[in-house]
Amino acid sequence: MIFMKLKIIKDSNPVMRKRSLEVELPLSEQDKQTLDDMLEYLKLSQDEEYAKKHNIRAGVGLSAIQINILKRMFVVYLKGEEGEIIYQLVNPKIVESSLRLCALSNGEGCLSVDKDHIGLVHRNYKIKMKAFDAYTNEEVVIKAEGYLAIVLQHEYDHLNGMFYYDRIDKKDPNRQKMNEVII
Ligand code: NI
Repeated sequence: MIFMKLKIIKDSNPVMRKRSLEVELPLSEQDKQTLDDMLEYLKLSQDEEYAKKHNIRAGVGLSAIQINILKRMFVVYLKGEEGEIIYQLVNPKIVESSLRLCALSNGEGCLSVDKDHIGLVHRNYKIKMKAFDAYTNEEVVIKAEGYLAIVLQHEYDHLNGMFYYDRIDKKDPNRQKMNEVII
């Protein structure tokens, strides 16, 4: 069972504040296996029955550091009306980002954060991310906006030891920025 293998560490663990290291390419079998396990975890976490039974929360993104592997890689699994979006990104870099910001109206959540942190998490509305995608086995340039851009930035932050709540204005958590898109 996959859950025997993957243990999500929490923000109380100082490891989560560390900067993850570049991954050697071509990807090792072990790294690919890790990414596959992470993807499987996300898929199962979105299965209501399964999640309930195993007392886990649904997630759309997971970074290697969250399973105590300090490598610059993360997985995204989004299921919507237009189908699935799946990434297994290695050594991602944000190469462009819009001046315009965005935030989720209900704030963000994280599998490593048990406590709710209320407030707008300000992010770039559009980004361009370069990475090696182990899912398609090719270098990719992802142009993302809105929700997908938020998910990618959330995971990218983990690689640099950051949490979503670091981006909430402590003094005025719900204050919108100029021209910010609220999703
Ligand atoms: Ni997270």
